[in-house]
Amino acid sequence: MNNDIIEAKSLAKSFRIGLKRKKILHSISFNIEKEEIFGFLGPNGAGKTTTIKILTGLLNYDSGEVKVFGVKPGEKEARKKTGFLPEQPYFYEHLTGYEFLEFTGKLYGMDNKALKKKIPELLEIVRLKDAGRKRIRTYSRGMLQRIGIANALIRDPELLILDEPLTGLDPIGRKEIKDLIFEQKKRGKTVFFSSHILPDAEQICDRVGVIFNGKIIKIGPLNEILKERITSYEIILRNINENVLNGLNFVKIGNEIVIRTKEEDIESILRNLFEKSNDFKIVKISPEVYTLEEWFVEILKEKNE
Ligand SMILES: Nc1ncnc2c1ncn2[C@@H]1O[C@H](COP(=O)(O)OP(=O)(O)OP(=O)(O)O)[C@@H](O)[C@H]1O
Ligand SMILES: [Mg+2]
Repeated sequence: MNNDIIEAKSLAKSFRIGLKRKKILHSISFNIEKEEIFGFLGPNGAGKTTTIKILTGLLNYDSGEVKVFGVKPGEKEARKKTGFLPEQPYFYEHLTGYEFLEFTGKLYGMDNKALKKKIPELLEIVRLKDAGRKRIRTYSRGMLQRIGIANALIRDPELLILDEPLTGLDPIGRKEIKDLIFEQKKRGKTVFFSSHILPDAEQICDRVGVIFNGKIIKIGPLNEILKERITSYEIILRNINENVLNGLNFVKIGNEIVIRTKEEDIESILRNLFEKSNDFKIVKISPEVYTLEEWFVEILKEKNE
């Protein structure tokens, strides 16, 4: 069975700028499976919002194939099952949070009875239970983001598409949104979100795709990417005479010696040391891992070269 909620194949998009057309998406392909949290990562201007607008049916594309729930984005079947938080959502600020959700719900044809049940539930989920009675004008950035997510959730969508839900928030605000995203996954939902805040993506994504200049340059499960990111190992020793460390890449930190090496050399280094000295202690052998941030900087550096 095909478990893909989103399928994009050789998707290309250009915009007309003056008399010329500028290519913005260069034949990108990706699939999003049910119940996964997918982080769409890339620097400013990479093409994240353009892709998201295509996935939500707000923009047309030049060529390629895009399916959301097996149909073209924008078709009723896809729209009904998709909740969307735009990059710059527009709120009617004179309304209260409650009234705003009521307004959207009515636009979708929900009746009063359904809304009376649904809105308090949503306000609870996004932790705006009390604030729901206040005017949106008085909301903080984090609260705006949360009412925007409540808005996206009003029809209990299978798929949530969030354009930069974490941007502009403080650490607490980010944690709240991350928790919300995670709760949706636990409820069997699929989440596609864009971000350039990499450490946040690292904590919640099953898979990430990195887009740069309109091309997807990396895509995969986070644990595979994490494996790729082990750059070297550290062997930490105590009670060892520095004379036996000749030829090794090491530093002395306090009363400990830290040797940096490749995985395949660990065993021979230790054997060698045990031959020369037998009363030292191994404190720790641990991999040195790139953070997603370092990895990203590395990829961008390679691409710019
Ligand atoms: N309607 C448009 N007409 C012309 N160019 C556009 C249009 N919309 C976007 N672009 C260009 O397409 C490129 C990608 O824009 P997009 O908004 O998709 O990037 P992004 O990855 O979402 O960036 P950000 O992180 O800043 O939100 C940019 O160079 C942008 O200037
Ligand atoms: Mg954008």
